[in-house]
Amino acid sequence: MEKTSESKITDFRSSREGARNIPDDNQVGEVIYLDKEKQKRKEKREAEIYEKYKSVFDFREEKYAQDVENKNSDNKISESILKALQKHNKIVLSDGIDLIRGNNLSLEDGVAAIIATAMHDSGKLSSDVLSHHEKGIEYVDEMFLEMEENDFEFEGVKLNDEIRQKIIWAIERHMNYPWLIRKNGGKKFPEPENIVDKVVYDADMLANIGFKNVAFRLSVEDNIQEDLMEARTGSSVIEESFKNVMEDVVILDGVVLTPLAKRMATKRIDDVKKIFDYLKENDIFENVQKEIIVSLKGLNSDPETEYEKDENSLFVKLLFSGDKRSETVEIIKGRLDDEIKKAGMKLGINWETIDKLTM
Ligand SMILES: [Fe+2]
Ligand SMILES: [Fe+2]
Repeated sequence: MEKTSESKITDFRSSREGARNIPDDNQVGEVIYLDKEKQKRKEKREAEIYEKYKSVFDFREEKYAQDVENKNSDNKISESILKALQKHNKIVLSDGIDLIRGNNLSLEDGVAAIIATAMHDSGKLSSDVLSHHEKGIEYVDEMFLEMEENDFEFEGVKLNDEIRQKIIWAIERHMNYPWLIRKNGGKKFPEPENIVDKVVYDADMLANIGFKNVAFRLSVEDNIQEDLMEARTGSSVIEESFKNVMEDVVILDGVVLTPLAKRMATKRIDDVKKIFDYLKENDIFENVQKEIIVSLKGLNSDPETEYEKDENSLFVKLLFSGDKRSETVEIIKGRLDDEIKKAGMKLGINWETIDKLTM
């Protein structure tokens, strides 16, 4: 996430509450059992959607593959960006399905919302982030040309101009994420108006409640230098990176539009905070950083790092030296995801949510 320190809206560093009570192992077992049943039903519903709308998902994945191919070696899209985008799409769809049901959308609106959700970030690999909605709309038009010719229908609903228009509006109006507005010089994008717009927009916002952007911060040197400065007060760079991402996450319950999404956001933000507190209280940020320093030293033999006494500076040096940076970020991400999952289970947070919160 790119931003400057002046633009932070909430001071998460000072407003954070202390660690919550941790349930005992029996309670954890029971929660996990009940949870699994619910999770199975949800997975079944999702699998049905992937099956029914297969042609839409295939179209999107083909576009991603082409876009990765088209960027040549000097601007190669890394595997990890594509992976992160695919994970994001999966979460948006999962929340979108709940929002379509919970908001009682008509069958036609539901079809439009599913297709718009699937395609909302389809243009992200072939455009500037500020105009990725326009590229997505272009792809939808292209897809419709193919599908209308072949008389496509989804869930018994024939595609027509009205549905196409609703999909296009929803993609056009999904952009007002706080950091994207900042990146756009404070200027807002078109606002959601109808229920299809709102469902797609809310699902996209909900998918941003989690630790995903920590991985993004770890791969951008300016961001990490900012975290290094903050860490001088006695914490670790990794902890500061998490805190920075948390500042954007904790305001998203005020950004979503439908009451259902607000309830989902409030709950999910509470879960994110619990995990953050647990990781902090148990010195996990610091310990993981120490561990990573050891493994990066093994990967990278820059002699300059031998003399670095301050652990935080050493971590940043190791992170940005050498030519295996995306590999390095993947290692850290994997390690931190393990800790997020462990903390989430220990805290009795349901699996589906834990999975959405990981990086
Ligand atoms: Fe987007
Ligand atoms: Fe998105």
